[in-house]
Amino acid sequence: MLELSDILDARERVRETARHTPLEYSHTYSKLTGADVRLKLENFQRTGAFKIRGATNRIATLSDAEKDAGVVTASAGNHAQGVALAATRVGVDAKIVMPKHAPNSKVEATQSYGAEVVLDGADYDEAADRAHEIEREDNRTYVHAFDDEYVMAGQGTIGLEILEDCPEVETVVVPIGGGGLISGIATAIKELQPDVRVIGVQAEGASSAAASLDKGERVSLGGVETIADGIATRSLGERTFEIIRERVDEVVTVSDPEIAVALVYLLERSKTLVEGAGAVPLAAVLFEKFDFEADETIVPALCGGNIDLNTLTNVIVRGLVETGRYLKIRTVLKDQPGALEDLLEIFTVHQANIYAIHHDRTSREVEMSDTEVEIELEMRGPEHVDTFLADLRSAGYEVDVLV
Ligand SMILES: Cc1ncc(COP(=O)(O)O)c(C=O)c1O
Repeated sequence: MLELSDILDARERVRETARHTPLEYSHTYSKLTGADVRLKLENFQRTGAFKIRGATNRIATLSDAEKDAGVVTASAGNHAQGVALAATRVGVDAKIVMPKHAPNSKVEATQSYGAEVVLDGADYDEAADRAHEIEREDNRTYVHAFDDEYVMAGQGTIGLEILEDCPEVETVVVPIGGGGLISGIATAIKELQPDVRVIGVQAEGASSAAASLDKGERVSLGGVETIADGIATRSLGERTFEIIRERVDEVVTVSDPEIAVALVYLLERSKTLVEGAGAVPLAAVLFEKFDFEADETIVPALCGGNIDLNTLTNVIVRGLVETGRYLKIRTVLKDQPGALEDLLEIFTVHQANIYAIHHDRTSREVEMSDTEVEIELEMRGPEHVDTFLADLRSAGYEVDVLV
């Protein structure tokens, strides 16, 4: 099983390629939660995520013949970029298989680090099948995204940095996809400071770790559904499952709306951009998914910042909805002059700002003498939404809240 010495060795191998990322006290989240929250800002890592650590360590341990033959892997995300940069930095040829419909931004980023991208397969599993074919055909080494001890050891160097920069840490919170990241971090932490708690977090729609721990054996989910694409994994690895079972104190889950709220908080309050998986550990703290004491020193590891702009737009809107800052309503008015003006007077009184308004007299949903109005609004928070809706209803409007 993975040991501390593997992680200490990894640290020497990754030192030149991977950054020692910052760890910063957060006044905002400490005040909100009553804990002493310090953020491990791994989203500022080269390539935008921690994967460069594991990939660099794996590639550094290849024999000369293996380096000459090159590496291959399958990934639609951060692992692709990590392997691409780690390999090309030391002159090793890298082929990365990505699903055919992988976002262009990810394909281009991976190519820009110098890897050859092969687009094949409808999803990750099919891309992985093709990558294993290439492994056999070209005699390349397959760099697994998580179930590999060198990869886990590389990710574990984050644990060393946390202990070094924050020796008073009491709890570390880490996202789990396939489990390589938390296996490395938990190994470093439990061997050096066994009293520090390690909490794993998954998305509700991809919670194979919680299911596997409950059952006492690895569970593979039929499907996964979450905005946190970095941790949308069907199952833990064989090795990572054993390590998590032994070294992780607790595994909790967070919902997609909770992830969106944490992501929006990070953007707005901390001026920090993370991807869904990067927001997951902070969501677990903000929504108190595990018990903690007042002033407990908690380090959520924000492990990646690579988010597609379309996804980011959707997540921001969702985060604004969840925090009562965006509202979409539908109501019915008499189809006569002045009816809209009367309605809008209530908006003015409440200072509810309109983003968009759609006035539809052709709707089949309403009487011919009526018109349907859908309005998107900028609001100031849940209380503002409640008093505004209450006033509309007491003025006689039937209001459906659409989002
Ligand atoms: C940003 C981010 N966080 C967390 C994870 C989870 O890592 P692991 O699969 O090793 O559990 C990933 C995996 O790709 C990721 O990209």
